[in-house]
Amino acid sequence: MTLKSILPFLLICLLFSMSVTCKKSSSNPDSPPDTSEVIYRNPAYPVEVRVEDLLSRMTLEEKIGQMAQADRGALQSESDIKTYFLGSILSGGGSAPSPNVPSEWGDMYDRFQHLAMSTRLGIPIIYGIDAVHGHNNVYGATIFPHNIGMGCTGNPDLMEQAARATAEELAGTGLDWTFGPCIAVPRDERWGRTYEGFGETPELAVMMGAAAVRGFQGTELGASPTSVLACAKHFVGDGGTTGGHDQGNTEVDEQTLRQIHLPGYLAAIQAGAGSIMVSFSSWNGQKMHGNHYLLTEVLKGELGFDGFLVSDWAGIDQLPGDYRSDVEISINAGLDMIMVPDKYIQFINTLKDLVGRNRVPLARIDDAVRRILRIKFRMGLFEHPYTDRSYTGSVGSAAHRQIARECVRQSLVLLKNQNQILPLSKSMNRIHVAGKSADNVGNQCGGWTISWQGSSGNITPGSTILQAIQNTITGNTIITYSYTGANAAGADVGIVVIGETPYAEGQGDRSDLHLAPEDVAAIQNVKNAGVPVVAVLISGRPMVIEPVLELCDAFIAAWLPGTEGRGVADVIFGDYAPTGKLSHSWPRNMAQIPVNAGDPVYDPLFPYGFGLTY
Ligand code: BGC
Ligand code: BGC
Repeated sequence: MTLKSILPFLLICLLFSMSVTCKKSSSNPDSPPDTSEVIYRNPAYPVEVRVEDLLSRMTLEEKIGQMAQADRGALQSESDIKTYFLGSILSGGGSAPSPNVPSEWGDMYDRFQHLAMSTRLGIPIIYGIDAVHGHNNVYGATIFPHNIGMGCTGNPDLMEQAARATAEELAGTGLDWTFGPCIAVPRDERWGRTYEGFGETPELAVMMGAAAVRGFQGTELGASPTSVLACAKHFVGDGGTTGGHDQGNTEVDEQTLRQIHLPGYLAAIQAGAGSIMVSFSSWNGQKMHGNHYLLTEVLKGELGFDGFLVSDWAGIDQLPGDYRSDVEISINAGLDMIMVPDKYIQFINTLKDLVGRNRVPLARIDDAVRRILRIKFRMGLFEHPYTDRSYTGSVGSAAHRQIARECVRQSLVLLKNQNQILPLSKSMNRIHVAGKSADNVGNQCGGWTISWQGSSGNITPGSTILQAIQNTITGNTIITYSYTGANAAGADVGIVVIGETPYAEGQGDRSDLHLAPEDVAAIQNVKNAGVPVVAVLISGRPMVIEPVLELCDAFIAAWLPGTEGRGVADVIFGDYAPTGKLSHSWPRNMAQIPVNAGDPVYDPLFPYGFGLTY
C-alpha cells in the first residue's frame, strides 16, 4: 500500500474526528446542544431561549412565587421558600443572622438557596440587601463614605473601585444583589436621605451612578463570581419632593422631571443595571407605585429597560384602596417583584385570585417572570447558586479598607483655611482633639450601618478620627482629648469634630439644620482658650455653619466618611492635599433652602463645586 492510495481514507478519518470534537464542545453557539436535554438547565443556550423554556414549564403558583420578595426575618418558616416558590429574599436594614459574621451569612444564604434549588424546577432565589456604602449590614465589613461624599470626589473610577470591593464582600457572604446605587438627585437638604444621593445635579447621578453599576456588576452581569446585581433607586423624583419630605410629593412638570431626575436612569440602564426600585414618593399627587405611564411606557418602553422593577418596602400598601386593589394597580402599572416584605402568603393568594378573575392579565405575569428569570440566567445563578467561600475573607480586608481610605481623602471638602493653617505640621508640641464625633465610628458611618438607623459608638471595627490622628503623629507631639472642648489651653491647635448623629430615611427629615448647642460650645471652648480651631463637620448634608465659621481657622466638610478615619488625618496633616468639590450648594441659613446650582437667584455661602486646596 502506497501513501497515495491511503490518503483519501486518512482524510475521511480526519474529517470525522473533527466533527466529533465539534459536537462535544456544546458551548459552541453554532451547534445547538442535544434537544433531549432540559433546555433551561443548559447554559449553552441563549438566555432568551432558556427563559421561554422555563416559563413554559411553570405553573401559575410558581410564576407568582418568583414575583414575591420576603424579608429573612419575616419568614414564618424557612421552608416557606420551598412551599411558596419564593423568588427572592431580602435583608432590610439590620436584618442579619446571628451571630453577625460573614460565614454565618454564607451559611444562611446556602440554606435558603438549597430550599429553592430543591423545588420541582430548581429555580434559585436572588438575595437582595442594602449595600449602600460597603456591605454595611455585616459586622466588620469595610464602610465607605456615603454617596454625598463620593459625589465630592468627582472620581467615577474611584466609585467603580469602591463598588467592586463592595461586590466582593457581598459575594463572600453569598448575597447576589445590592439595592444601590441610589441615584436620587436631592434638591432640598431637609430631606433625611440627602446623603444617599451623589449630589444636587443630574450630572453627578449620571457619572457616579453608572460607575457604581459597573463596579457592582463587573464588566457584565455574571462575568465573574463577584458580579452582583445593581439596583438603581428610587424611580423617579425621590429627591425632588416638596419641602424635602421623605416619601413625599414631587411637584414638577414633566420637562423638569426628565431634566433633573430621569438622566441617572438612562445612564444606569446603559451601564447595564439589571434592576430598578420604584420610589415611595408621588409625582404631582400620584404614587409612583401605581404610575403606569412612567414605569411601563417611559422606563420599559422609551428607555428600553429589559431588567425587572422591584417595589420599595411594602410600597404598594401605600396606594389608595384595599390590598387587593394595591396588588392589582401596582402589577398592572408594571411592577415585576414586590418587596412585600412580610405578608407574602397574602400577596401570593391575592395575585393568584386577581389573575383568575382576569383583573391582572396572564401576559403581564409572564412579562414580569420573564424579566426576573432573564436576570437570574444572565447572572449565572442557575450554574453557581451557592456562596463562593473564596471571597469570605475579603470582608473588611486591608485592601478594601485602603480603597475606602482613598475615598475618604478625596471626598473631604476644604471650605476655609485662614492663613494657610492647614496642613498641620506633624511635629507640633501639643494637639488638642475635641468634639462629640472625634472618637466615634458610629457617627462617622451614619445611617444604614449595622442597623437601619445606624447608631453612635463602637458599632463595628474601624478607626476613629482621634485614633487616626494618634496613628499619624508618631513623634513627640502630645495629643490630648476632651469631648466638650474643655482643657484645650496651651495646645498649638484644636481639632474639633462635630456634626450630626446617625439617622436614616424619614427619621432624618429636619426643619432645622443648625449645629447642636454642644457642637457650638465645643468650638467656643477651644477658641476661648486661645487655641486656633480646625473644625471637621461629620454630616449627611450641608448645615448652617455661618454663626461659628468666623471662630474657625479652618473648616472641613467630611460628610459621613465611614470606618476609615485615616483618610481624614491624611488631609489634615498634608499627606493628601484636598481635591474634593461640593456636591451641594451650601446654604447660608434655613430661609435659603432649597438652594441649587442654576437657580435664577443664587447666593449660597459656598457654591456647588467649591473646594479649596493647599
Ligand atoms: C428604602 C429602600 C431600601 C428598602 C429595603 C426602604 O425603606 O426606601 O431604599 O432599599 O427599604 O431596606
Ligand atoms: C427596615 C428597613 C426599611 C424600613 C422601612 C425597617 O424595619 O429595616 O430596611 O427600609 O423598615 O420602613
